[in-house]
Amino acid sequence: MPIFEVDNLHLHYLTRFKDRIHAVSGVSFAMEKGEVFGIAGESGCGKSTLVNGCMGLFIPPLYPTSGEVRVAGESIMGRTPDDVRRNVLGRKVAMIPQGAFNSLNPTRKIKDLAADMIASHENGANRSEIYERLRERFARIGMQADTVLNAFPIELTAGMRQRCVIAISTLLDPQMVIADEPTSALDVTTQKSVIRMIFDLLDKGIFSTMIFITHELPLLRHVAGRIAVMYAGQFVEVGTTEQVVFDPRHPYTQALMGAMLSAEPGQKQKKPVAIEGAPPNLALPIHGCRFAERCPVARADCVSTEQEIRTVAGREVRCAYAE
Ligand SMILES: Nc1ncnc2c1ncn2[C@@H]1O[C@H](COP(=O)(O)OP(=O)(O)OP(=O)(O)O)[C@@H](O)[C@H]1O
Ligand SMILES: [Mg+2]
Repeated sequence: MPIFEVDNLHLHYLTRFKDRIHAVSGVSFAMEKGEVFGIAGESGCGKSTLVNGCMGLFIPPLYPTSGEVRVAGESIMGRTPDDVRRNVLGRKVAMIPQGAFNSLNPTRKIKDLAADMIASHENGANRSEIYERLRERFARIGMQADTVLNAFPIELTAGMRQRCVIAISTLLDPQMVIADEPTSALDVTTQKSVIRMIFDLLDKGIFSTMIFITHELPLLRHVAGRIAVMYAGQFVEVGTTEQVVFDPRHPYTQALMGAMLSAEPGQKQKKPVAIEGAPPNLALPIHGCRFAERCPVARADCVSTEQEIRTVAGREVRCAYAE
């Protein structure tokens, strides 16, 4: 049985004028224990919205339209945010958010922020026992436990704060971790150390299954076994890293890969290839392929015929001309 399943998930935001913005439109995937699944796509394609759906966390104006999310076979949909925070987050699904190191409460020491997280899940847990557990865990994952735990967030570097966020969010040994652009607000050197830490936690068995989200494909290539490319609320290509990176079949993936390869070291003289145009308005009904307007190889029927995702060359792809 897959450890994590998303089944035909549709999510929308309700605007003040009661318009629906269909931010996620029919995403499905399943993950086996031990898998690292990468999701890539440009800003606004629905990655973070999908993450909220994957946690079963619906805070207005975000609402589930339809679909299912299951952790170890059990649905996590249809719960109140309170229920999700108590019974899903941290234990079933832990989330490493974007730029979280700036949101650590500045008036509390790292050990108290961490202890609060444990106490909120374990009624009546003894504070000094919790501190002892924290020391063990921080030491086990290679952090200078005594120094870091007794520091206020402001006393730590941005990279160290993000490492603390990661340590805290995985304290309860979650079945599943979702990292949503965990390094996007950090400088390149710090990014590397944070990525290294995440994979160190995987190696140490603190957690084993992860969704890793980024708009930087070069990153995914080295971290994920399987990759999904997302565009305008849908997966347009899903395959092994090998398939998606070295033999992309969807024109959008190909465009992203073009942008990525030119950004590799040694090719700095080449400008990243920007993809002309903008994604469709997700508040309006969309007919035809969502990428057609920007697609360099679109044909007349692409704008009128909606594309289902289908298998081509061993991977899933949402394009009529992927052969
Ligand atoms: N609170 C909101 N109300 C209405 N629309 C929203 C809201 N939050 C996000 N959206 C819209 O939903 C779509 C998906 O946004 P989302 O934040 O999930 O994208 P993303 O892929 O995570 O982008 P980024 O890479 O910038 O983080 C966008 O079109 C965005 O404008
Ligand atoms: Mg996002």
